[in-house]
Amino acid sequence: MCGIVGYFGERNGMPIVLQGLKRLEYRGYDSAGLVLLKENTLEIIKTKGKVSELIALANGREAKIVVGHTRWSTHGEPNYINAHPHTSMDNSIAIVHNGIIENHAELRKELQEKYNFTFRSQTDSEVIAQLIQFFYKGDFEEAFRKMLTKIEGAFGIVALHKDHKQILCARKGSPLVLGVNNGEFFIASDPSPFLEYTKEVIYLNEKQMASIEETGYKIKDFNGFNIEMEIETIPFGIESIQKQGFEHFMLKEIYEQAETIQNCFRGKIRHIENISIKKENIKRIIFVSCGTSYYASLVGKYILEKSSHIPVVVEYASEFRYRHPMLYPTDLVIAVSQSGETADTLEAIRLAKKLSCSVAGIVNVTGSSIAKECGQGIYVHAGPEIGVASTKAFTSQIIAMNLLNVYLNKDPYYRAELIEELEQLPEKVKAFFKTQDVKAIAEKYKDSKYFMFMGRDINYPVAMEGALKLKEISYIPAEGYPAGEMKHGPIALIDENTPTVFLVTKDTVYTKVISNMEEVKSRKGKIICICNEMTEEIERLSDDIILIPKVRWECTPILNVLPLQLFAYHIANANGREIDQPRNLAKAVSVE
Ligand code: G6P
Repeated sequence: MCGIVGYFGERNGMPIVLQGLKRLEYRGYDSAGLVLLKENTLEIIKTKGKVSELIALANGREAKIVVGHTRWSTHGEPNYINAHPHTSMDNSIAIVHNGIIENHAELRKELQEKYNFTFRSQTDSEVIAQLIQFFYKGDFEEAFRKMLTKIEGAFGIVALHKDHKQILCARKGSPLVLGVNNGEFFIASDPSPFLEYTKEVIYLNEKQMASIEETGYKIKDFNGFNIEMEIETIPFGIESIQKQGFEHFMLKEIYEQAETIQNCFRGKIRHIENISIKKENIKRIIFVSCGTSYYASLVGKYILEKSSHIPVVVEYASEFRYRHPMLYPTDLVIAVSQSGETADTLEAIRLAKKLSCSVAGIVNVTGSSIAKECGQGIYVHAGPEIGVASTKAFTSQIIAMNLLNVYLNKDPYYRAELIEELEQLPEKVKAFFKTQDVKAIAEKYKDSKYFMFMGRDINYPVAMEGALKLKEISYIPAEGYPAGEMKHGPIALIDENTPTVFLVTKDTVYTKVISNMEEVKSRKGKIICICNEMTEEIERLSDDIILIPKVRWECTPILNVLPLQLFAYHIANANGREIDQPRNLAKAVSVE
């Protein structure tokens, strides 16, 4: 994954790049570094620590051309040597890279054995700088392009040469966006590093490169031919990437959900025919996704099959793409992705296209690779999600599933009722936040060693999402399960120390879930119940109860997941975890 940010202009770029790296830390935080270009010298500052350490190290330095990097390690452990930027053997070239160079081993071997190059790091990325040096005969751009013809894999690359007042960058598979503002330029993995300076951007497309010089910028293909690109304006401001008084981004993003779900349906719900997905001749929908987006896809399956009678298959993108799926031209394959950059999801869509299926995206980040690859779909408009554990994107994805349901459903009365309910949701979300104290309950269970989350029907994927949230940020083992499956194994784990979170809504499976609660209670397990109606059974069986407002079946996951997000948050916080940057994780997994 990794985050990249570069500055080229007249002011001191150091604070801009350092601040920008801080904002991109959600992409990885194993190490950090930057390179300053000043009068024919490249100065590298890097650390095996996080950006905050880099900020301390870089104190007082100034430069008008700066490129920085925050790393999520793939090749080579996270240490000083493997931190980016990487330099060529003669130190004339410095690069930062996001992605994976798949043929790095053979390129490295060839440079070492045939041309006596020496390498310093264990990374795949170092070979990029070495190759540029290998090809360099005085024309930096030509050497850069020759390097691009040699490397295979995924990359966003930014490179500097000590003798050229120029930033060169290229993308294939990993995002890069150019910000332009009256003679100064920014290049970054997403626009957040430069939002306070400009909202005018160009999202580089696949296999495009950019050259930034004093005379301006040029976008080219990898053969060096100029391409005219449209400048886009970012629709959100700096406030959307600030904590605004919250202790963590995750908490802010949880509390934003009344607004973000509204942003998802606003403008679409009363103009559903404007959804840009071709639905003619579609006989089946296949969702491909990962992580939290996978659970949102599962919720979509429950909704679409029951309400609109469309067969739906949900697949982990990483499984789908390697297992020779049976696809038909009448299948619509929909990628569900917050970042729009998840490598497996992107490749799954490419595979579906190759096999003649229609494709679409349910995506948060506009202009992202998946959005571009799909060309049609629904933007969920949740705004930048910075906490690594996904929250508001999940509820917006479920709104998008409901919009798809309205779009595909043939019954006008049903559609009208669902639309009305969706429009009331933001108020119900607010009501939940106002009335329920999840923090106190979470703190009561903060020392538990293992948690189970149980739900049936549409609440089953929500139970899995609840367990995932808790694992991700608290590191406490947790499992989400269909409650009916409990007796086939997980029940063996129940004892007086095991809390089970039950999602119980008054619907067709209510009595079944109550029976599952009885089974846990009779084994002395603790029960935390999330329900939308207080009943005699619930009161009798539960140790703690969280009441959510009543909503239609299709919308229950949105209300039910809120206490689960808060539960995970407060347990992790009470255990002193790094909520926004949990260990080993990254926000956008643009490597396989
Ligand atoms: C990473 C993130 C998860 C996310 C998953 C899929 O693992 O940490 O929060 O659910 O990727 O990402 P996507 O951007 O495709 O939804």
